[in-house]
Amino acid sequence: MITYAVALEKGGVGKTALAVNLAAAFRQAGLDVLLIDLDAQASATHWLGIDVAALTADRSALGVFNDALTGRLTASGITDRVITTAGGVHMLAAHPQMAGLPSQLSAATLGGIFLLSEALDTLAQAPPYDVVVLDLPPARGPILGMALAAATRCLAPVQSEDLVIRALVALMESVTQVRGRRVNPSLQMSIVRNKYMPRSGADRVYDELLRDEYKDLLIETVIPVRAALRDSVAVRQDIFHYGGPEVAEARALFLQLVSELIKLDGQR
Ligand SMILES: Nc1ncnc2c1ncn2[C@@H]1O[C@H](COP(=O)(O)OP(=O)(O)OP(=O)(O)O)[C@@H](O)[C@H]1O
Ligand SMILES: [Mg+2]
Repeated sequence: MITYAVALEKGGVGKTALAVNLAAAFRQAGLDVLLIDLDAQASATHWLGIDVAALTADRSALGVFNDALTGRLTASGITDRVITTAGGVHMLAAHPQMAGLPSQLSAATLGGIFLLSEALDTLAQAPPYDVVVLDLPPARGPILGMALAAATRCLAPVQSEDLVIRALVALMESVTQVRGRRVNPSLQMSIVRNKYMPRSGADRVYDELLRDEYKDLLIETVIPVRAALRDSVAVRQDIFHYGGPEVAEARALFLQLVSELIKLDGQR
């Protein structure tokens, strides 16, 4: 099982767009995918057509974390809570009560940093999924720590903007800590340029900076601003099920991103 944590503490950079459509693209490539929504805003859950209001906290990913916090974690406790979306991506949904998860984790032994790794290890004994994708909230803290501890690779969506680059520097610090403190020494890191249009002078400057500073971390596939990625959320479909304009290009780019990731991480 390969686990991708889509993270950056800056809001609105396209974490959820990337997580949802990357999960769908892996599914298109014939893999079994589990998408875990770790954001109390439940954007990914909503995007893939799940009725958040009809879901109890216990049926969401929060139920899994409560099991883990009370030593009741089992593989079936996880898979029983998984919802299969219309597009075939399996999902552990988010719930608004997940807003309290950071303080629950902080109060736990070791800040709960290994809870998600434990949950995924429980699944990995008979892995029902090839790929796990984590959608993170725009914040530093125990949820990010727990996700980076469990991930094979952290994927940061970035634009060529000052605040985004600063958030990237902060994320790199977290990744370095997670590696260095032996929490997850083999954690990999990649940068995905999303909503990208390095045309203006200022954009070109940041683009060069990214290439100079993070050359080895840059994913080659660049995702531009495209209506399909903005509008598919309104009809609550991933781009492989959405039929609006510009969707063919967006689909091709996400499939290209999947092949790049499979080249990097293999396919276990
Ligand atoms: N490549 C793109 N082209 C056009 N619109 C995009 C693209 N990527 C994301 N968007 C849109 O930008 C908005 C913000 O994206 P998204 O919700 O994925 O960001 P986020 O990083 O998850 O935000 P948050 O930090 O609040 O969770 C959404 O309306 C999304 O549909
Ligand atoms: Mg989001």
